[in-house]
Amino acid sequence: MAELSSRPIGVFDSGVGGLSVLRALMAELPHEQFVYVADSGHAPYGERDDDYLIQRSHAVTDYLLRQHHIKALVVACNTATAAAIHILRDAHRELPIIGIEPALKPAVAHSKTKVIGVMATRSTLQSEKFKRLLASLADQARFVLQPCSGLVPAIEQFDAIKIGAACAEYTSAIGTFGLQPEQMDTLVLGCTHYPFAEDALRKGTGDEVVYLEGGAPVARQTRRLLHAVNALHNATEAERSPSIFYSTGDTNALQSAAQRWLGLHTTVAALSV
Ligand code: DGL
Repeated sequence: MAELSSRPIGVFDSGVGGLSVLRALMAELPHEQFVYVADSGHAPYGERDDDYLIQRSHAVTDYLLRQHHIKALVVACNTATAAAIHILRDAHRELPIIGIEPALKPAVAHSKTKVIGVMATRSTLQSEKFKRLLASLADQARFVLQPCSGLVPAIEQFDAIKIGAACAEYTSAIGTFGLQPEQMDTLVLGCTHYPFAEDALRKGTGDEVVYLEGGAPVARQTRRLLHAVNALHNATEAERSPSIFYSTGDTNALQSAAQRWLGLHTTVAALSV
């Protein structure tokens, strides 16, 4: 088996959304190889219960360990992180596992009005993990929560009309954006798909609202954990093995998304796990 440092890093999401995290990982860790799994055949995760999310997270993680001998796992999905990360960590104690959560703490630090919008899946907003995070910051800001059930399927299909309609619906339902007192000056994108709808969201929020997503902090944490176990890959970028992409659903959708959003010309293999 390959030396620890030259093994790939596994990354998974319910679909194309985790590419927003992969983009940050590739920028932070340019020498690493990634194996990305889009579980699009089972998306959206956001309306599923914990048992289902745990079962899918196990299936994908077991595959990445068995077939690719990954040296770390990034759960590039807020919904799966909230439901399953503690269980994955219990099951794989030797494996560094990095999750993502809605960026509430950075939002508190950034917001001047201290009114913060949070868009996420229903499952994330209802999770115990999210409720604990919210409670820990409740005295520092007012958070306005908005589940956005229709947005992930629209982004998965890359259907501009549906994306526009969903963004208009949710940005108007959540409340008033702006820099005046009582207005939301900060919006947390608490689902890794949503950064890919930024243009449509901006039509509802205006340009001055700051959006926060979690990709860059996840990438920095991945670097820290790998550094701590001496497992960073030192190859020059020219020697980096190309990353590998799988989808349990529409392989063409992931291939187009990787090209559109990351500028990657890659092939995507079908996966059944
Ligand atoms: N991208 C995922 C997240 O960050 C989940 C989207 C979904 O499948 O509902 O929550």
